Amino acid sequence: MLEQINMLREKGQNELNALNSTDQLPEWYYRYLGRKGDLTSLLKQLGTLSSEERPAMGKVINEVKQELQESFELRQKTLRETNLSQQLEIDDLDVTLPGRPCTTGHLHLTTQTLRRIYKIFQEMGFQVYEAPEVESDEFNFQLLNIPEYHPARDMWDTFWVNDEVVLRTHTSPGQIWAMREYYPEPIRVILPGKCYRFEQITPRSEHQFFQVEGLAIGKNIRLTDLIGVMSEFAHKMYGVERKVRFRGSYFPFTEPSIEIDMSCSCGEEDGTESSGCRLCKYTGWLEVAGAGMVHPAVLRNGGYDPEEWSGFAFGMGVERPALLKHNIDDIRYFYGNDLRFLQQF
Ligand code: PHE
Repeated sequence: MLEQINMLREKGQNELNALNSTDQLPEWYYRYLGRKGDLTSLLKQLGTLSSEERPAMGKVINEVKQELQESFELRQKTLRETNLSQQLEIDDLDVTLPGRPCTTGHLHLTTQTLRRIYKIFQEMGFQVYEAPEVESDEFNFQLLNIPEYHPARDMWDTFWVNDEVVLRTHTSPGQIWAMREYYPEPIRVILPGKCYRFEQITPRSEHQFFQVEGLAIGKNIRLTDLIGVMSEFAHKMYGVERKVRFRGSYFPFTEPSIEIDMSCSCGEEDGTESSGCRLCKYTGWLEVAGAGMVHPAVLRNGGYDPEEWSGFAFGMGVERPALLKHNIDDIRYFYGNDLRFLQQF
């Protein structure tokens, strides 16, 4: 019997090695290893042996079976690989390769910041209103109480398209558009959008940037409403532990005018050299927005009678807060379109 087994083993190996296509594999398998195969029938014959011979012979058959099984798997693998490479020579589409992962994009950091701002103001009843990016001198300046040759024009370095047309230097002209559209209704809007200034490009300033303007017009709106809304905004945007500070300031289109500061995340505020951080220039405070009560002349230009109506307005930057939040040290990254930067957010 041992001889029979050895012959079978040699024959099996030789035939397996002679196979040259995967199609021939099943036939070989049935013949040698299948339920009705030669090895199985040898196992069945064990019963005819004496009880002394039986265990040793059974062991040998099982070893051979195992050996042929391993050779089969190896041969199968080799044949499949050869098949594939032959296939690839005829036709270079390899359907067994894993697909290339699709890169999914995401929103730009500026858009993400804008949407957080929208959400906070939406909860306070403000809706989004969009105004033009290319403006007339009239809307960007004159209707906002900044006549020609007014020294306050120096506050905005302006891109002039021609003598009358500018790229808006701030979102404030949107106040006039909104008032003229909504008169005689009360107004609660925010006006987001891109602004342009003819400035040298540095880590802290770009010649294009986003602002979000806010405007509330009603019959009984007071400075305390502005302070309440801006405090709520600062806390929701930056956390309740932040302090908000209001300072007197000047803008031609608001009276009185204020500037809104927020305590810096470094938590220091005594203004000495040894306190604070570089971000807040060692003052402990960061500027968030300019604001004030809408000037009577501006209300009138929007169609609202200042004897009857009042309102507040504010304007804030968008990139700067994002810069602070994520510890980014150069505003130019926002427009550089460098994916290595953008993919981090
Ligand atoms: N438009 C002002 C600026 O860009 C900010 C501002 C808006 C101030 C609204 C007061 C009211 O500097």
